[in-house]
Amino acid sequence: MFECVIDKLFATKNASDEVLKLLIDLDDADYLYKRALERRVAYYDHDVFTRGLIEFTNYCKNNCYYCGLRAQNHNVERYRLTPEEIYECADEGYELGYRTFVLQGGEDMYFSDDQICEIVRRLKSDHPDCAVTLSIGEREREAYQAFYDAGARRYLLRHETANDAHYVKLHPKEMSLAHRKQCLWNLKDIGFQVGSGFMVGSPFQTLDDLVADLRFLQELQPDMIGIGPFIPQADTPFGDQQAGSVKRTLNLVAILRLMFPYALIPSTTALGTLDPKGRELGILAGANVVMPNLSPTRFRKLYAIYDNKICTGDESAQCRHCLEKRVESIGFHLVVDRGDVRREAVKL
Ligand code: SAM
Ligand code: SF4
Ligand code: FES
Repeated sequence: MFECVIDKLFATKNASDEVLKLLIDLDDADYLYKRALERRVAYYDHDVFTRGLIEFTNYCKNNCYYCGLRAQNHNVERYRLTPEEIYECADEGYELGYRTFVLQGGEDMYFSDDQICEIVRRLKSDHPDCAVTLSIGEREREAYQAFYDAGARRYLLRHETANDAHYVKLHPKEMSLAHRKQCLWNLKDIGFQVGSGFMVGSPFQTLDDLVADLRFLQELQPDMIGIGPFIPQADTPFGDQQAGSVKRTLNLVAILRLMFPYALIPSTTALGTLDPKGRELGILAGANVVMPNLSPTRFRKLYAIYDNKICTGDESAQCRHCLEKRVESIGFHLVVDRGDVRREAVKL
């Protein structure tokens, strides 16, 4: 019975809300993963794209209830990389085969729009064959335009939840879903390749919320879709909440692959944190991107958005080689490539 609805989702890239809810919690999901993998291989063969993640500041002015970097968490030792340290991370990443750098951080206004532009310009001039991705939260449209003009072409901003009532349970009143969505539309309008997404199993999340997330993504049609399980961080208001389910995350990765065959979908560090084989399972469910850490090892533990994050004691080269082995072990390979989106299937 489920094979039939999965085939329909495969063929039409869509399903009713009721079917989506059944699939999100499907117990025996092997056929769902099989069809998602088929789609993934048709568009991306056995390639896995890499993005070198540079976590350049753990200061944040916001207070999302789920995140360890929230301003009111006074148990974090705060750090900022200097521009020189950022360029060194990128140089090392280039040597290791990365052709996309993701600059990620809390919403840290110490880094002015001009300074971000300067960093982007320098990264582009040092590595003209690389893509620069920003993931620095909500800023004004003019700032986004300036980042684009400086050479950034990709921007990651998860919408977190597409339901207003759920959004207010995860964020203080200074933050709004409408503003976050407006940022995504602005980025898209400027010409950025946009990445959005959500946490799976965030506190108070219902199946209807997840369906709303999928519907919002259908509207937005982002190039990249990042999802990962929610993981509690002890010093946040959600410190004693339950983590999200790995199984539900994998089911959603597969559903996303079938609904958005072209998309760049990472197998996230959060998946790898909750399950030692989580990233491999994510790829086998349809993901096609991994985002290993390029930050200097001495700062990694301080970027503690959730507890027990993996790779915090490792060197960039170790992560690269570790991931290479993991990906090879399941019959895939990491490619040295910018990893642009593929709009059409390359294989039938
Ligand atoms: N400050 C930027 C922003 O919020 O878009 C970028 C950095 S933020 C740490 C990146 C992502 O981490 C968020 O979009 C959120 O989905 C995820 N995140 C934060 N806290 C998390 C948690 N406790 N468990 C899993 N993911 C979390
Ligand atoms: Fe800041 Fe992003 Fe964490 Fe929210 S999720 S507190 S904006 S770093
Ligand atoms: Fe970092 Fe395995 S990916 S050590």
